[in-house]
Amino acid sequence: GSCAVVIVAAGSGQRLGFGVPKARVPLGGEPMLAHAVLGVVNAGIAAQICIAIPPGDPEMAGICADLQEQAGPGILWSVVEGGADRSESVRAALAVMAEGITTVLVHDGARPLTPSGVFERVTAALRDGARAVIPALAVVDTIKTVVPTELPATGAGVEKVSGTPPRSRLRAVQTPQGFELETLRRAHAHALTLDAAAAAQVTDDAMLVEAIGEDVYVVQGSAHSLKITTPTDLLLAEAMLQGPLR
Ligand code: CTP
Ligand code: MG
Repeated sequence: GSCAVVIVAAGSGQRLGFGVPKARVPLGGEPMLAHAVLGVVNAGIAAQICIAIPPGDPEMAGICADLQEQAGPGILWSVVEGGADRSESVRAALAVMAEGITTVLVHDGARPLTPSGVFERVTAALRDGARAVIPALAVVDTIKTVVPTELPATGAGVEKVSGTPPRSRLRAVQTPQGFELETLRRAHAHALTLDAAAAAQVTDDAMLVEAIGEDVYVVQGSAHSLKITTPTDLLLAEAMLQGPLR
């Protein structure tokens, strides 16, 4: 079957704080989105590329047109307007999947440096029968769960630890996340039945697939596949671009 790659780039980039959508923020002199999209093109796994961009952003539409030209013929190209949250942006892209597409990778436009190897590992797991697969890394920090509480003497609002999940079983999850198209469509149809509070907790597509009871397989991610969220991440990505780290 044929594989589509959805690149979600419709976010506003509040935490990066550049005052423009994150996808347009320059990295190595090029818009962040250009790195992400050309990384997908160069991985050589996409029959279709669909980019979700902020509604009413002609500059971003122009960047996408340039990227289509750079990619050359041979890849079906779609650009859609994203929605109010990431899930809505994914659903806008799922609505334009071409005839014959059987698997889809959903990738953050905010991960400009994802190496080809990650795309290959995700694609290989789908080929080997996984209906859902995510790239992930072992976590380096000790992670605690917390609950709200008050300090005994003052009643000041603080948090206290409610548990320490064993670190050996924790993974930090990245994209591209790969799915059988039909499975991801079912997961997103289910997502539409969630109330607003539950919908607000959804941070990736795999969560939605877990919720419909499908197994989600895990392959090795990459340190280079970091998501640019804060200015520190951007500094790190600039250093990665300069250095021999790729
Ligand atoms: N995204 C999207 N549509 C949205 C929100 C997010 O396509 N309505 C995309 C972003 O463009 C990004 C990815 O989802 O590539 C991960 O989201 P995040 O890192 O949170 O990006 P932003 O939402 O842009 O950043 P922030 O939350 O700091 O505003
Ligand atoms: Mg966001």
